[in-house]
Order: sequence, then C-alpha cells, then structure tokens
Amino acid sequence: MPLTINPRANALEVPGIRKFSNQLVNFPNAINLTIGQPDFPTPISVKEAGIRAIEQNLTGYSHNAGLLELREAVNTFFSNKYGFSYDPQHEIVITNGASEAIDSIFRTILVEGDEVILPAPIYSGYVPVIELCGAKVVYLDTTDTAFQPSAEQLEKLITDKTKAVLFNNPSNPTGIVMQRETMDELVQMLKDKDVYILTDEIYSENTFSGSHISLASYSEIRDKLFCLHGVSKSHSMTGWRIGFVMGPAEIMKKVTLVHAYNSICSSLPAQYAAIEALTNAKDTPAEMNMEYVRRRDYVYHRLLEIGLSVEKPNGAFYIFPSIKAYGMSSFEFATKLLHSGGLAVVPGSTFTPYGEGYIRISYAYSMPILVEGLNRLENFIQTL
Ligand SMILES: Cc1ncc(COP(=O)(O)O)c(C=O)c1O
Repeated sequence: MPLTINPRANALEVPGIRKFSNQLVNFPNAINLTIGQPDFPTPISVKEAGIRAIEQNLTGYSHNAGLLELREAVNTFFSNKYGFSYDPQHEIVITNGASEAIDSIFRTILVEGDEVILPAPIYSGYVPVIELCGAKVVYLDTTDTAFQPSAEQLEKLITDKTKAVLFNNPSNPTGIVMQRETMDELVQMLKDKDVYILTDEIYSENTFSGSHISLASYSEIRDKLFCLHGVSKSHSMTGWRIGFVMGPAEIMKKVTLVHAYNSICSSLPAQYAAIEALTNAKDTPAEMNMEYVRRRDYVYHRLLEIGLSVEKPNGAFYIFPSIKAYGMSSFEFATKLLHSGGLAVVPGSTFTPYGEGYIRISYAYSMPILVEGLNRLENFIQTL
C-alpha cells in the first residue's frame, strides 16, 4: 500500500501572503508592501534582556506554562492598561507566538464536526488550524457593516454545532477597531449562548485614537472567553516567538497540556526578553504608533486622492481599499500591479472569500518606501 499522509494536512496550501511575497524574488526592483511585521528593531533593553539570559545560562526549559515572572508581568500589564486581570498561576500560558496560542486553544476545544464562526475578511492563520481539527468554518460577512461584526447577523449563524466564535480586534487585514456599541451588543447576545469566545488582540497596542477595549474586560463572558496575545507586533518581536493565552482556569489546565505536548515551553531567553518588554519597555509601542499614525494618514489620503474607496483604519498597520471598480479579481489586480506596476500588495481574497474585491497594504514600511509605493499604485491605476 502506498504511504499516505493526513488528508487534512494534504489539503493545506501555502498562505496567500507568502505566495505573493515569494514571487518577489523575480521582481528585485518591486516595492514590497505585503509584510505584516513592524519595521522597527526590537527595543534595545529587550534585546539586552535576552542577551543577558543567554550569558547567564538561562537557556533551559521553563515551567510548561512559562516563567511565573513573565505570567505575572502579563497580568500586571493588562490589568494596569485595560482593567482586567488573570491569575498568573492558573489562567495564563506563555506560547510560541500567538500562532501557537491559536493552535493550542483550538486543539483543546474542537472536535470533528464542530463549527467555528469567523467574521470575515479575517487573518488567514485561523482557518487551516480549525480545519486540521476536523471542524468547519462559518463566515460572518462584515463587508456591509464597515467591517464591524453585527451581533444580529452573528446570532443567525449560531447553531447547535457552533463551538466557538473568534474576533480579531484591531483587525488584520482591515485595520478596523471594534466600536464599543458593537462589542456591547455582541456580549449581550453571546453571554447566554453555549459558545466559546476567542479574542485575538495581538494588535491592541497599535490602537491609534482612544483606548483599546478588550472583550476580556466584560465579566459576563469571562467564563468562556480566551484572550490571545503576544509581543510580536507590540514590541517588534516577531522572531522571538512569544505569545500568551489567558482563559478560565479549568480549561487552561488542558491548554497547558496541549501546549506542553506540542513544545514543552517557549524559548527561555525570549521569555526573559518579554518580561523586559512588558515592564520597563511597556511604552515603546506608543512611540512606534506616532510613526504608524503619520504613515496611516499619508497612505489613507493618497488612496482617496487616487480615487479608491477605503475605510479609515484606527489600528494595526494595514489598510484595505476596495478595487471592485476595476472589474477584476483581487489576485488578478495584485498580479498585474506587481508585473507591470512594480508594487507588491496582498490580494484581499487571501483573507477569506469575503476579502475579494480588496487589496491589503501594509504600512509597516518607511515613508520613502510608502511614497514610492503609492506613486506606483497611482500610475498603475491610470493605465486601467
Ligand atoms: C491577527 C494575527 N494573529 C496572530 C498572528 C501571529 O502572531 P505571532 O507572530 O505572535 O505568532 C498574526 C500575524 O500576522 C496576526 O496578524
């Protein structure tokens, strides 16, 4: 009998973002606005904390849930900033980036046949994990509600198969921040439903006006809510691989085991660096935000001048203009833009079929790169 592999693994595809950025090697002069990671270095004191840990031979395993000192720093950071608290001993697990947090939670709660509702368009990292668990994704279309998930529409999608609903706030790819009224309505509706709530708030520190509101601050839903987070985006630490999951103690016992059998623990020097990030370097995201806001304003105004319809983002470092007026798919648009316009952006269809008709532009790039990128976009659009 020929050797086979898990058909669910067999069905996985290269993520759309990678498909696009992989093509870039063939276009050495192209401007690349595809990547979703800060272009700033990791703060110096954070790097030094990691180096110190290595020099002091703090290079072994930690507790499966992560260093208690880091879990305490996580709790102090969120309770000071957003007014919610998790018990560092029982309700917080340090993971290998938010990606592993997503994987560990879904593998803890999902069984074959479950349904998970995702407001869409949405980050492409959730669907493969849900499907690897044998569960099915159900989309909540947010394109007619300015990318805000409507409680009324969500309620209609909930069935007895629904196991969880996930929110990503601020959003990748739209940069949209959930409004307080939207969240109040969602909480009112969800509090009486037997459905887990996952909230991926990895971009919370990149909120540009007003303060981020966390779903974890609503006590009515805390018994079934998991908050996913990490320092990848806030402190420009994507390569350090530190994320966190916060959730109800009983279930977190199992999340800890799923995480432990996956990877034992997160990298220890990186955990020491993350302690520094959340304590002494806790204000560096605000410094980065000053630059992101300048870039966001520039890109937003240029897109309007070019004639594209776009929602003004208030968080993360993405903007998601519509290209529906040009009568082609987002993949075709992005391919032509790269080949004949010398600019790489991500086709909206990467972020579920509900992203069709949009492109994602990342402004985690310096102003000169953004200026040239937007000039190229304008020139390309004039040829259509
Ligand atoms: C919404 C969202 N969640 C999670 C992640 C993954 O984060 P990490 O690098 O910490 O695994 C990303 C990365 O782009 C993201 O955009």
